[in-house]
Amino acid sequence: MYSMDNFNLKGKKGLILGIANQHSIAYGCAKAFKTLGAELAITYLNEPSKKFVDPIAEELEPEIFMPCDVQNEEEFAAVFAAIEKKWGKLDFALHSIAFAPKEDLQGRLVDSSSAGFLTAIDISCHSFIRMAKMAEPLMVDGGSLFAMSYYGAEKVVNNYDLMGPVKAALESSVRYLANELGPKGIRVYTISPGPVKTRAASGLKSFDDLITETVKRTPAHHLATIEDIGMATALMATPAAKMISGDTVYIDGGFHVMG
Ligand SMILES: NC(=O)c1ccc[n+]([C@@H]2O[C@H](COP(=O)([O-])OP(=O)(O)OC[C@H]3O[C@@H](n4cnc5c(N)ncnc54)[C@H](O)[C@@H]3O)[C@@H](O)[C@H]2O)c1
Repeated sequence: MYSMDNFNLKGKKGLILGIANQHSIAYGCAKAFKTLGAELAITYLNEPSKKFVDPIAEELEPEIFMPCDVQNEEEFAAVFAAIEKKWGKLDFALHSIAFAPKEDLQGRLVDSSSAGFLTAIDISCHSFIRMAKMAEPLMVDGGSLFAMSYYGAEKVVNNYDLMGPVKAALESSVRYLANELGPKGIRVYTISPGPVKTRAASGLKSFDDLITETVKRTPAHHLATIEDIGMATALMATPAAKMISGDTVYIDGGFHVMG
């Protein structure tokens, strides 16, 4: 029987990768997971970026707070070792990370370098698969895994170029991981928010034009905030959503249904 207990995350333990600062989508998600009652593990990219995440750690009081560059195998593994030691289990993990070298990101896809494409797909997609692999043995009661994508994975969006195929690979990975991990009660989701002014987004050419155009075409005529994105994401981690998996969940005020 379902009850109101199925709509919260009390006693659940979750990992958040990808907070850079107060504008990060991952920060909106972390706040929402916490609001629903979860305990958090939060990472930051490296020492120079720590000072921007420190105030967030003070606010959210994560039980684990440590560095994690996903291209550093030892550092990535150390996060899961710390989770195993502290909690002995994991209930959800959010991957809110993307990167592409500027020259590849801002040029045409047809001109992209092999090295740039490989870096982008390793950090923005394969590291999600690595995260799932390390989370699997810790999700002893099942769990949920979240990747962050964008509409440009599915349709051509001006200036999204290189990240389009990278996010398409991420969304496809989510579907295959949902199939592979489903028997263990692990659900896997792509979250697809509308555009948000963040540090990562500032690397895209003409991002302000994209915002203006999106607001015009979004049914509500305004964009989802990181708090809106966070709360809808956190709801997917509750037991109430346990039979939803493999999907791309759009949190974009309905933009993606517009012709
Ligand atoms: N901002 C948008 O408009 C938008 C829309 C849809 C999807 N997204 C996606 O949301 C996610 C979060 O981006 P954001 O917009 O919040 O920007 P952000 O700059 O706040 O977050 C990006 C994060 O990626 C991290 N990162 C980059 N390389 C890393 C590495 N090697 N190891 C570990 N972390 C690394 C950065 O430290 C940062 O915390 C990304 O996947 C992005 O593609 C963003």
